[in-house]
Amino acid sequence: MPLIRETIVITASREGRAHIAPIGLISDRDDWIIAPFRPSTTLDNLAAVPFATANHTDDVRVFAGCLTGRYMWPTMAAKEVPVPRLADALSHVELAVIDVRDDPQRPRLHCRVVRSISHAPFQGFNRAQAAVLEAAILVSRLHMLPREKIERELAYLHIAVEKTGGPREIEAWTWLAEKVNAHFAGAQPADVAKANKA
Ligand SMILES: Cc1cc2nc3c(=O)[nH]c(=O)nc-3n(C[C@H](O)[C@H](O)[C@H](O)COP(=O)(O)O)c2cc1C
Repeated sequence: MPLIRETIVITASREGRAHIAPIGLISDRDDWIIAPFRPSTTLDNLAAVPFATANHTDDVRVFAGCLTGRYMWPTMAAKEVPVPRLADALSHVELAVIDVRDDPQRPRLHCRVVRSISHAPFQGFNRAQAAVLEAAILVSRLHMLPREKIERELAYLHIAVEKTGGPREIEAWTWLAEKVNAHFAGAQPADVAKANKA
């Protein structure tokens, strides 16, 4: 399996409306592959405007926020591509789509890096940030994963958030937990309580 880097991808519609989504970029030598599952606004935008920025951030609220309808993250113009970048990214790359492998489920858009730039230092690893990322992925798959698996994995991930998280990680976790609760809202009270604890 190739390396996958979890990023915030920003694309734009033909009308210039920016769209922000957490996407795992697949490494391919010096290039990156964006592989959106259909249906996807990111995919539609890249068909219309074949450029993106991939933003690297340690503010995991951006990941959790996008998964829970919070898209208010400040952006600013990129230099070499006609789509914005995250204003607070630690670094970002500007990407141009150079090849598309179509697929009914998950097309692969091969991208070349046209600019790569650092803005702020990497601050070191934090387990709560990794846990929030994993929880965000679970939330993006709520509709297709068994409930028991989601609850078991969230319970484990929550330990790292409680032990090592700061205010940003805790806020991100709260948003994700609320979404899980809402998803299971129609279920039996005992199970909802369990998801709450997770
Ligand atoms: C860390 C992380 C990585 C993700 N990677 C992908 C991905 O590679 N492809 C994808 O389609 N969705 C991915 N998702 C889910 C999308 O962010 C989510 O489904 C989003 O709504 C994309 O759809 P959109 O382009 O319509 O906004 C990821 C989510 C997270 C939290």
